[in-house]
Amino acid sequence: MSQNAYLIAEQIKAKSDGLKSEILVILGSGLGDFVNEINVKKVIDYSEINGFPVSTVSGHQGKLVYGEVSGKCILCMQGRFHLYEGYSPSLIADVIKAFKLIGIKHMIVTNAAGSLRKEVKPGSLMLIKDHINMSGFNPLIGTNDESFGPRFPNMNNVYSDKFREVAKKIAKNYKIELHEGVYCMLSGPVFETPSEVKMCSIIGADANGMSTVPEAMTAAYCGIDVLGISAITNYCTGIEGGCPTHAETLQNAAKTAKNMTLLVSKFIGEI
Ligand code: HPA
Repeated sequence: MSQNAYLIAEQIKAKSDGLKSEILVILGSGLGDFVNEINVKKVIDYSEINGFPVSTVSGHQGKLVYGEVSGKCILCMQGRFHLYEGYSPSLIADVIKAFKLIGIKHMIVTNAAGSLRKEVKPGSLMLIKDHINMSGFNPLIGTNDESFGPRFPNMNNVYSDKFREVAKKIAKNYKIELHEGVYCMLSGPVFETPSEVKMCSIIGADANGMSTVPEAMTAAYCGIDVLGISAITNYCTGIEGGCPTHAETLQNAAKTAKNMTLLVSKFIGEI
């Protein structure tokens, strides 16, 4: 049920000092640096919101930050929730529904991902043009609340064409290496076996990760436009000798932070 979404929304509203934002930014592993770009107006700790999950992974902070970037008021989730932490998929959906209730119209979601393509090197960025959900979960399973969206939502333009064009233009202007491809979500917490990596390549994935898809599906379902950007932190198992570790992903995520921050800040200025 979506009752939790209403409860979360009420609490965020009550704690936001009257601040309002139409733009939500979700920061992935090691990409927390973006908050330095924010002219911070208000910080709400996840633990202050009953019903809101608390992030448990190192590199994820667990704060909602209201502030200004490129002249616009944004709401930033510094630290996100992963299915592998044990949260129910519908709880992740509730969080996005709560954001819809407080007026979010656009969502910028970033993540760390492993590359399946030789030319998409660690340290570069990849614009997500579509996803494949291999997580084994769907956040929209359960009773449907029609006030958010339809029972059978279509997923034909989850990652807004218009947003992708804007992002590509910015990347070109600022000489940011930006690939474009299909993001495949697996549940984690394990990295893939060599055979799973081969399968993901065959089915059309360009990068693998353990997040983003539940949030993006829910956003598409309730009419929030999505821009998705992956920080390529490693080669997937067996690709170019890849043997990923969390330490490697954090180290390379830090290398992408400057370009990611520039791209996201300029993008906010243009939407
Ligand atoms: N696989 C899955 N998830 C990931 C990876 C990977 O190689 N790198 C960062 N997140």
